Amino acid sequence: MAALSAGGAEVALCAANPLTTQDDVAAALAKDGLPVLARRGEDVDTYARHVAALARWEPQVTLDDGADLLVLMHEIGGDALGGLAGGAEETTTGLLRLRRLEAEGRLACPVMAVNESRTERTFNDRYGTGQSALDGILRATNLLLAGHTLVLLGYGVTGRGIAQRARGAGAAVIVCEVDPLRALEARMDGFDVMPALDAAAIGDLFVTVTGSRGVLRREHFERMKDGAVLANAGHFDVEIDLDALRELAGGEPREVLPLVERYEIDGRRLNLLAHGRVVNLAAGEGHPAAAMDMSFANLALAVTHLCEHRGELEARVLDVPKEIDEEIARLKLESLGVEIDSLTPEQQDYLSSWDH
Ligand SMILES: NC(=O)c1ccc[n+]([C@@H]2O[C@H](COP(=O)([O-])OP(=O)(O)OC[C@H]3O[C@@H](n4cnc5c(N)ncnc54)[C@H](O)[C@@H]3O)[C@@H](O)[C@H]2O)c1
Repeated sequence: MAALSAGGAEVALCAANPLTTQDDVAAALAKDGLPVLARRGEDVDTYARHVAALARWEPQVTLDDGADLLVLMHEIGGDALGGLAGGAEETTTGLLRLRRLEAEGRLACPVMAVNESRTERTFNDRYGTGQSALDGILRATNLLLAGHTLVLLGYGVTGRGIAQRARGAGAAVIVCEVDPLRALEARMDGFDVMPALDAAAIGDLFVTVTGSRGVLRREHFERMKDGAVLANAGHFDVEIDLDALRELAGGEPREVLPLVERYEIDGRRLNLLAHGRVVNLAAGEGHPAAAMDMSFANLALAVTHLCEHRGELEARVLDVPKEIDEEIARLKLESLGVEIDSLTPEQQDYLSSWDH
């Protein structure tokens, strides 16, 4: 926000997820004079009011986890939509919705798929979420990963990072997937792969990160061991079926630690973290700054691209240009004090010709 303001933009902010706002950060931004509509733990209605207030402000560019705002602006239509240069979208879930809008022929502005740039996917999701999801779980529980079995549901770009980091900390990792290619990849990466129903009886700690809903549900809870811990690192709190947990436990859970709720089911205790909300943000501090810097650079450069090419870009979900990715990686390497080679003219010639 500071960089965009310094670049001349008027910037306003609302939360993208009711439980993930850090009040101290929101307060610091407000103190700097930026309009901030976000409070930790705000209820769904307040969140919706905040998004609606930003829509009425009629922004020309939306960014970060902006899909709720962008979708609302499409629903409102009229002037709100006409003034849009575009959106720079940071989340898998957001892009999924915006692509559906595009498929229905209703997307009215270009959207840069920041979430899919190489610097974002490889570094933010794999290393940022990989570390911060475990950090959130450990802060909430102080579990020892070594010697325990972590069941990871969803071996996507994000899940892969969590699996790798958990293995590095000594956990035995089981992967559950629905995509045969991803499942095969997990197997060849050295993880056990099996259906969730089988893993349910073995796991000590379960982490969902699929972007889907009801990934852990009644049939799984019925098989879980006493003391099992359940966490979600996916965007929405729908991956763990909370209604089924309540039904099986015959009521509301008991809070045994901050952000740890215990459901007693037939004498077994199942511990849900952060109400099933995205655990690295709700129980931790989110990604480390050293992973977020590349995301922010992606967003700032995507916004610049949208503004510089206003009126020239198609109203579609677009890739971030390769040059932006390369520039960010080059700057990051420089900041780490790492130098690399470049192709010699002979190599460039060799690689670009066919007649050798
Ligand atoms: N916590 C964070 O900071 C953070 C960061 C990045 C992404 N995310 C969120 O994590 C989720 C996943 O994102 P991604 O980028 O890794 O997506 P992805 O599409 O790369 O991976 C998701 C994987 O889950 C698998 N899957 C779907 N349904 C499943 C099921 N029922 N059981 C087992 N596996 C299933 C898919 O086959 C896929 O391989 C999204 O909601 C995204 O918004 C969170």
